[in-house]
Amino acid sequence: MKNILAFFGSNNPDSINEKLVQSVIQKYSDYDIRFIDLKNFDIPIYSQRIHSECIPQSIQDLYEMFRESEGFIIASPEHNGLPTAFLKNIIDWLSVITQKFFDNKPVLLLSTSPGFTGARTHLGLLANLVPLWGGKLKATYSLGSFESNFDVNTKRIKNDLEIEKLDKAFNTFINKDTKAVKNNREVVKSYFKAFTNGNLDEVLNIFHPNTYIVSVKEEERPIEQLHGIYRTRQEAKQFLKNIVALFETKEFTVDTVVEAEGNLVIAKGKFSHLVKSSGKLFNSDWVQLCIVEDEMIKEYRFYEDSAALIEASSIEFA
Ligand SMILES: Cc1cc2nc3c(=O)[nH]c(=O)nc-3n(C[C@H](O)[C@H](O)[C@H](O)COP(=O)(O)O)c2cc1C
Repeated sequence: MKNILAFFGSNNPDSINEKLVQSVIQKYSDYDIRFIDLKNFDIPIYSQRIHSECIPQSIQDLYEMFRESEGFIIASPEHNGLPTAFLKNIIDWLSVITQKFFDNKPVLLLSTSPGFTGARTHLGLLANLVPLWGGKLKATYSLGSFESNFDVNTKRIKNDLEIEKLDKAFNTFINKDTKAVKNNREVVKSYFKAFTNGNLDEVLNIFHPNTYIVSVKEEERPIEQLHGIYRTRQEAKQFLKNIVALFETKEFTVDTVVEAEGNLVIAKGKFSHLVKSSGKLFNSDWVQLCIVEDEMIKEYRFYEDSAALIEASSIEFA
């Protein structure tokens, strides 16, 4: 990929997101990456009054650079769970030239913050919006705890695990043929798809190796009891075994899958299970809360109408 445009969405003169994006440019210096500082563009706050007169020259110049570029690396700081007003303003201006200002080109999203999330909350939001602006989201990377994970003297990330994650994201970005990252909602949707198709190996692979599962109640359980806590992907296997041992699923519908803050995905729907031991139907609404990490389910909580299960489990004697 040639002529990659790299910038950061901050007007802070000592921006840590600038430090992150500069370190990426330095680390991958074999690539043709052009850095721009958006502070140097004289861009007014979007207003319809200004817009009706003209689109500022600075925005037209910036758009021209977008047109000349083959890909984008953007480091975006988080303000109150959202991108900064500074970056949002520039996005608004670009979008009035054309909604699809990324023009079908690959995008790598980066973020960092002093906190442990590394501004990941808003990056999920931006990741969902990049396609709306015509971009192909290839990868995201957030560096948490900037002060302890970044060496300001060498201008490098100093945590090996973080370096590995950044490499993975960058390689995905530059490799045209590698698949785009799934956003958190897509991860949960692919879980349901695999589950509905009865592809239990795929279901297991979507669970993180260190997954934490709560089936209805958060307490320890005897191995063959369905409800309770399961830890690790190995125990997730037992979770699936317990479901299959107890029920024959007649219907399983997913009505809603939505993303919430902090990598949380909430889903809800209905099911109808035949309880094998009693021959009765167990019908219930359900709610599922998942924390997604690295395109896998790290934490999984499933809630159903357990009173209805007790009723459906009782055997009627003639
Ligand atoms: C108004 C305001 C809101 C902030 N909100 C968040 C936030 O929601 N999440 C977060 O991780 N950091 C938040 N921060 C801290 C920023 O991550 C921190 O200021 C960081 O330095 C911003 O990046 P920059 O230096 O590249 O501008 C906030 C800072 C300000 C000033």
